Amino acid sequence: MRIGIYPGSFDPVTIGHLDIIKRSALLVDRLIIGVLNNSKKSPVFTAEERKGMIESVVKNIPNVQVEVFDGLLVDFAKLKQAEVVFRGLRAVTDFEYELQLAQLNRSLYPKLDTMFLAASVEYSYLSSSAVREIASYQGDISMMVPKELVSVVEDKFRSLKMDKK
Ligand code: PNS
Repeated sequence: MRIGIYPGSFDPVTIGHLDIIKRSALLVDRLIIGVLNNSKKSPVFTAEERKGMIESVVKNIPNVQVEVFDGLLVDFAKLKQAEVVFRGLRAVTDFEYELQLAQLNRSLYPKLDTMFLAASVEYSYLSSSAVREIASYQGDISMMVPKELVSVVEDKFRSLKMDKK
């Protein structure tokens, strides 16, 4: 049984992430989406909210499960007996960071390899940070996040704005 991990912050998950999830799930027997619970990053959505949002859009993909992790990715991979990590590459600007991450992870745990999937061209400009920026100004995010999540993201930013008042 080949187990893969697709790790990330997913704050929030985008349709670009969903594309990578669907394609990665075809390459392994089981795909675990690892949602990073990192207090240093102060995400907009809690780890459980991010997990729930992803679960709601992957529920029809039978070999995918979503879990929250903290600490090192290699430790999570060991725990889950995963042998491959998937990451999407959107542009050359992603490459330096991703290469370093893959090499660091492999130096810490040589059994773990990273597989890069080229982002689909139509999603290559998408990022969670762009979604957050646009949503914070009540812009249109309907082409950026899965349709089930558009109002969830909008409501979150509306409530954050109310809290600031
Ligand atoms: O979606 P992101 O924020 O680009 O994902 C980054 C992620 C979660 C893959 C990376 O930050 C990570 O693996 N963090 C866990 C800590 C770790 O193992 N760091 C790598 C060694 S320094």
